[in-house]
This record gives sequence, structure tokens and C-alpha cells, in this order.
Amino acid sequence: VDPYSLTVIQNGFVIVDDEGKATNNTRSTARFQIAAVGDAADLHTAKKKFNFAREDLITLGKTQLLLPGLIDTHIHAPQYPNAGLGYDKPLLEWLDNYTYKLEKQYRDQELCKRVFDAVVRKTLDHGTTTACYFGSLFRDSTLVLASSVTRYGQRAFVGKINMTKLAPEDYIETAEKSIEDTLEFVKEVMDIGNPLIQPIITPRFALSVDMELMKKLGAIAKEQNLHIQTHISENKDEVKMVHELYDNKSYADVYNEANLLTPKTVLAHGIYLSEDEMKLLSKTGTSISHCPESNVNLGSGICDVRKLKNHGITLGLGTDVAGGASPSIITAMRSAISASTNLSFADENSKPLTYIDVFYLATLGGAKALALDDQIGNFQVGKSFDAIIVDLDVKSSSADYLSTDLTPQELLQNFC
Ligand code: GUN
Ligand code: ZN
Repeated sequence: VDPYSLTVIQNGFVIVDDEGKATNNTRSTARFQIAAVGDAADLHTAKKKFNFAREDLITLGKTQLLLPGLIDTHIHAPQYPNAGLGYDKPLLEWLDNYTYKLEKQYRDQELCKRVFDAVVRKTLDHGTTTACYFGSLFRDSTLVLASSVTRYGQRAFVGKINMTKLAPEDYIETAEKSIEDTLEFVKEVMDIGNPLIQPIITPRFALSVDMELMKKLGAIAKEQNLHIQTHISENKDEVKMVHELYDNKSYADVYNEANLLTPKTVLAHGIYLSEDEMKLLSKTGTSISHCPESNVNLGSGICDVRKLKNHGITLGLGTDVAGGASPSIITAMRSAISASTNLSFADENSKPLTYIDVFYLATLGGAKALALDDQIGNFQVGKSFDAIIVDLDVKSSSADYLSTDLTPQELLQNFC
């Protein structure tokens, strides 16, 4: 069975247990757990079995879809004010001219609160119930992001960036401070005691840190069983610099040497990976966050998603705000389809992604990429009831009324 397949239940039900005791999924952090899923014809029996009262039933309309919450596997919260700005320069110049200049302003706690609250609310508005965030270099500032996420109830990974070079002098840290602040940050996030939030080890990319620091970060991740995120092979000049800096090793080999490639690692982009690098990512269980909006805006290139998938690499979708201009994973879904269509113009053997493929990437694919698929990603019994309702009756911009005769498949296609 193709894991990228999709099941649509035309007239179905989901029973949710609000005490999280319906099944014995011990890893589940959910208060709201899925107890049963089925076809409307079986609802009567299920209601009896689960002792369900009539007043507990919520019925959706014909134009409404109940979907698993969307997952953004790569987003830079502090870059949100730059979304839509500065796409006249390729990656490394874009970082120098726009990104670091903005990020270094996050010493200001007021700015942190204002922007991070806005990012979390905006992504939730777009259906992102789980996000994997890059914070800033600053521990305090990134902790404010964790507070915003807690305030609005999103599920998230939050990472304090590690960066000791190749950025302005007032926006880098020493290796000692980098480790000290990372350890402190991890502890502080754990101390919040919110089961929906986890700290994530976040070296910016191989050009921002050296091997020694990366190794130390790899060791921390291992000791504390933490997730890891960074960037890989996004831009040709970047890849060339990595080769020059690290004795001609491949980008993936550099991370592997530092023990940063794990089943809990998600790497953004991966456009220019070699066969050997793809094999290494697959072997180590490392995932890729595909960020098509950003790849087009920064002229980075087009990632061949099918090729990565065929190598057995797990993929999710990322907005990569502010490389991506939109905080919406739905926009990333559309961009993934258009990018793959462009790729197929250039290579007749390459087949564009379908709406089912991108829906998978935005849900179960993302959950797998973040090693959360035992908890979220679809409506399997025992998982958290992590869901969104999408109503396609009135389209926000044009106020077109949608025919209510559409099947759920057609509604879903319309949504993409
Ligand atoms: N590589 C290193 N830092 C960044 C960043 O902030 N955004 C993107 N898109 N790529 C990066
Ligand atoms: Zn990024």
C-alpha cells in the first residue's frame, strides 16, 4: 500500500474521549483521544458502546470537512515581520541583508511577545496545529515563543538557534555560551510542564557553527533524547562553501560526523543532495522538510520530492517563513504542486505531485517527519484528537458559494 494514500469517509463519525482513557496509548499526551472512527451506519452501536449522550454529539454541515490538524515542519517565528520581503537576493545575501538584521532585534522582549503571539495565532488560523519553530539566537527571546505557543494551545517544537560565525558581530555567540544557553533553554522549556511543547536542538546550518560545537550539540540531543533541526543543501553556493569548509565532505556527511542525523532530526530543504547523501538520510531515519514557497522566492531551486521519497526518506512540508512569504501550510501544499509541475516540464519522467500527495505531506508525512506519528497525523484510534474543521461554503476572498453537491473528495480538492 502506498503510504501516501488517502481515506475519505463520506458520512462518518469520530468518537473522542475527553479523559484520554479510551485506549492505552501510553505515549499519548492527549486529554482528547480518538476512541473510535467509523461510518455513520455504525454510529448507533458505537454510541452505546461508549456510553455517549445525545448532547455530546456535534454534527458538521455538508460543506464542512473534519481534517487532521496541519503540520508545519519548518518555520522561523522571528522572521515573520519579513514575510513577503527581500526576495531579490539568493540565500546567503538574503540572510546578511534582511534576516540577521531582523533577528538580532529580538533582544527586545516587547517585540518578542508581539511577533510571537501574532505568528502562533496566524498559523493556528491557517490550520497549523503543530509547528516546528526556529526561535532566535537569544534564550530569553525563544522562551517567549514557548510562552506564546502555550498561551494559544499549539503543539510545537521550539529551538534556540546556535550560531558562532558568519553573521554580524552582535548576532553571534561564543561556543561556550551557545552550549550553556542551550542547556538552560532545554531545561526552561521542560520546566514549563506543557506536554505539547518540546525543546529542539537547533544549529542554524553547517556554516554557522563548527564541527566541535555540532558534536557537542549532537551529544546533548543524544543524552536528553531531543529532536534536532537545521538546514541542508538549500542553495548551490551554500553547498559549495560547506565542501570548502569541511575538507570536501558532503553536507550530509558533515552532519553525520557530528551525530546530528537521527530519527528525530528534521532538515529543511535538501534540494541538491547526492545519491549517497539520500542513502545516508534514509539509513539514519533523518527527515526532510520540503519548503517549496521559500525555494521559489529565494531562487534556491526545486526539490525533487518523489526522488527523496523513493529513497525512503520521510518528508513533511514547511512554510519556512520568511523564506516563504505565507504562514499557511495550505499555501505550501499548493506551492509543492506547482513546483513539482515545473520540475515535470523540465524532466518528462518526473510526475507532478497530486493533491493527495501534498495532503499527506501536510498531515501524516509531517507527523512522521517530527516522529510524532504515534500521536497525530491522522484519525487513528488512540491518537490525539488533533483536528481542524474546514468549511468551504463561502470562499474567503470571492464570496463564491460552493455547490453543496460536491463529494468530500471534491471538497478536499477544492481546499487544495
Ligand atoms: N539557512 C540558514 N539560515 C536560514 C534561514 O533563516 N532561512 C533559510 N531559508 N535558510 C537558512
Ligand atoms: Zn529555514
